[in-house]
Amino acid sequence: AKDVYLDWNVTWVNASPDGFERPVIGINGQWPCPQIDVDVGDRLIVDVQNHLGNQSTGIHWHGMRQYGTGVMDGATSVTQCGIPPGEHMQYHFDVNQTGTYWYHSHNMGQYPDGFRGALIVHDPKPPFQYDDEFTITLSDWYHDQMPDLLAKYQSAENEAAFHGQEPLPNSALINDSTNTKIKVQPNKTYLVHIICVGNWPGHTWVFDGHEMTVVEVDGVYTEPYVTGNKKLRLATGQRTSVLIHTKSDTSKNFAIWDSMDVNMMFFNEDRAIPANYNPNVTAWLVYDEAKPLPPAPVFAELDFADDVAFIPADREALLEPVNHQIILDTSSAVINGMPRFTINNQTYLPQDVPTLYTANTVGPEYASNPAVYGQVNPFVVKHNEVVELVINNHHNNLHPWHLHGHQFQVLQRPDYGFFTGQYFKNVSKTPIRRDTIMVQPQAHTVVRFRADNPGVWLLHCHVEWHVEAGLMATIIEAPETFPHGNAGGKKGLDTSGFNTQVPTED
Ligand code: C2O
Repeated sequence: AKDVYLDWNVTWVNASPDGFERPVIGINGQWPCPQIDVDVGDRLIVDVQNHLGNQSTGIHWHGMRQYGTGVMDGATSVTQCGIPPGEHMQYHFDVNQTGTYWYHSHNMGQYPDGFRGALIVHDPKPPFQYDDEFTITLSDWYHDQMPDLLAKYQSAENEAAFHGQEPLPNSALINDSTNTKIKVQPNKTYLVHIICVGNWPGHTWVFDGHEMTVVEVDGVYTEPYVTGNKKLRLATGQRTSVLIHTKSDTSKNFAIWDSMDVNMMFFNEDRAIPANYNPNVTAWLVYDEAKPLPPAPVFAELDFADDVAFIPADREALLEPVNHQIILDTSSAVINGMPRFTINNQTYLPQDVPTLYTANTVGPEYASNPAVYGQVNPFVVKHNEVVELVINNHHNNLHPWHLHGHQFQVLQRPDYGFFTGQYFKNVSKTPIRRDTIMVQPQAHTVVRFRADNPGVWLLHCHVEWHVEAGLMATIIEAPETFPHGNAGGKKGLDTSGFNTQVPTED
């Protein structure tokens, strides 16, 4: 184990990933933002200097459980204040998980302006063999900046004319480019980390001519799953690792086909596809730079691999019995003329005082009382309870649900229908765990986790439009164990790194 220290100066830089130049949020003058590589057991220390000038910021380490270090989760207005322009904050935590993660700003719809990158935790003894590895990020991309897009999206005009339709991406990117070439050697096994770092639509992709074997989802090793003639789909926030074996000769190069979900962007929104709109992007596995780069065949007709059917390699048993069931009925609503989303009829609003700070300072006798957390959809759970979350999606579009601080077990995720109280007959005794799950329109999912990680954890749709429109809740976990202002209390989480700087308006 070692310390990995990064000194990051966050600024605006110009970039043209799809040929259109615009300001993006970069690190140390560079964009795309760098991939972080650590070994399991390392301590990651990142000094973040905010030199954006006009916006607060922060970094969330998506998928890192932050076990005992919930103050380092980086969720603005939940576990910390945004870092104001001109200020800095040090994140520091031990990395005790292996696999594929990412980091992104969790501040006011900011990460789709480019502030996001891969975080790969290497394992000295993975349960599979490979020769080399590389990373692929998938995303939607916009020519306008998020504050402008969000203002239009969250406007009465949008609600009146377009019923709250989301802004359309201008392009799709692979590795933050529309022209990515990945050099490969013949006859090798590659571990490919694939991360959907996008804002809204899910992505499906296929390596032309190369079979994929799934070995990890969201940091959880899986029993090897050969995709055969199925496509893989990632919702925003999700990751997977696959093994591919390269051809034994270098006579040809091969396309990587990636497609943004047209159901999410168009059909479920009652919107027609504009003429010449291209939801796809191609990258290439390059064996020989002198050979042509072939166009991608269209794989649209293939079925998706069902990620609920994956099996965790450790075969962790289904958590039962359930101690605490939380049912979330999620929907859209017009509130004050604006298109908003609701959970049990409440729309989330960012808190002026971070919820973790509230939970830690109200006094132990009030900490378990949801009323002290305001109108933020607080769900208070006790230490070590088995919690079952049921999400009924009453909306006509898909939503990828993400929980901070945990990898939950996925029991069921049907294509249609709300939870009736009945579990499916085929619920696995060793369900797959992950931290983000796509929920179908007018359908539900049931997931479980053990409340073993005291802290305040966001539970939200990972579509950044929907985060800003209030599709968010907080799990106030084990507040009875919080140190309550006494950082030396050492009962639950260590709050000594708590950032209580007052954010500036942006
Ligand atoms: Cu990727 Cu709330 O996070």
